[in-house]
Amino acid sequence: MSSRNEDLAGRVAIVTGAGQGIGHEVATVLAERGATVVLADILGDKVDAAALALGERGLKADAIAFDLGDEAAVADAVVRIVGRHGRIDIVHNNAAYQTNEQRAGDLDVIHLDTGAWDKAFTVNARGPMLLCKHALPTMIAAGGGVLIHSASGFGLLGEMTLTAYGASKAALINLSRFLATQYGKQGIRSNVIAIGFVLSETAVESTPQVVKDVLLDHHLNPELGSPRDIANVVAFLASDESRFVNGALIPVDGGFTAHQPTMVDFQKLFAAAGSNQL
Ligand SMILES: NC(=O)c1ccc[n+]([C@@H]2O[C@H](COP(=O)([O-])OP(=O)(O)OC[C@H]3O[C@@H](n4cnc5c(N)ncnc54)[C@H](O)[C@@H]3O)[C@@H](O)[C@H]2O)c1
Repeated sequence: MSSRNEDLAGRVAIVTGAGQGIGHEVATVLAERGATVVLADILGDKVDAAALALGERGLKADAIAFDLGDEAAVADAVVRIVGRHGRIDIVHNNAAYQTNEQRAGDLDVIHLDTGAWDKAFTVNARGPMLLCKHALPTMIAAGGGVLIHSASGFGLLGEMTLTAYGASKAALINLSRFLATQYGKQGIRSNVIAIGFVLSETAVESTPQVVKDVLLDHHLNPELGSPRDIANVVAFLASDESRFVNGALIPVDGGFTAHQPTMVDFQKLFAAAGSNQL
């Protein structure tokens, strides 16, 4: 039996949005655990460089560039991956469209740019559906496999902005359950993680310290999350250790969505009154 460090040996994994951030870290952890990882992204240069760097460490990594918004490109990518590696065992739908321009248009509903809504759904919900649609026949023919989807707390609860992002992540959450329901008997597991605030490059750059402080106040953990914290959970869901977890929604957020919304306000109120007791 292989050690836990090599428990994904022989498996072929696709990680979308692997050019940077959480996806890059997931690709690294899956490769460290023995998988052959295909790093996929619309940014070809980034995945080429990342796969090369993993290869130089003796890990098994390949890169492929395609746009999740383009069904023909997704279908072609699946054919190329199967041609190169013979199988697909793990799909991690990690990519999301979250540029500064996108954020500027993705506001409250009255001020929401319709193009931003369409773009969010195209990449964040339709893209994962397309990758599953085209990868599943090969996975099922080989006896099954694992689908993991990266959603967000924005897909669970309301906020003043990022309406399209939140609605697209809510769609992804239920897509995961439909996939588990439809193909579970054919050996497919589909699970979704609701990620909280994680210090990826994008999040570090786009989030002022004052905002990070507010977010940390609402965490039950003493620290904010790192890409490695997410990657370790994805690796668990990709592995046989989680073989009985199917159709699940797992928050990976340091307890951000576990407590009463009023918790921080009450802490401040009672602290001001000289007590930390409810
Ligand atoms: N970082 C956080 O705090 C946080 C919180 C909650 C959820 N998440 C989710 O985790 C995932 C990764 O987050 P991140 O912060 O690392 O993101 P990121 O923006 O750093 O990386 C996303 C990647 O997706 C790629 N991508 C975008 N559009 C694409 C397309 N059309 N086709 C192919 N690839 C495309 C980008 O090029 C980029 O490399 C996302 O799904 C995000 O919604 C992140």
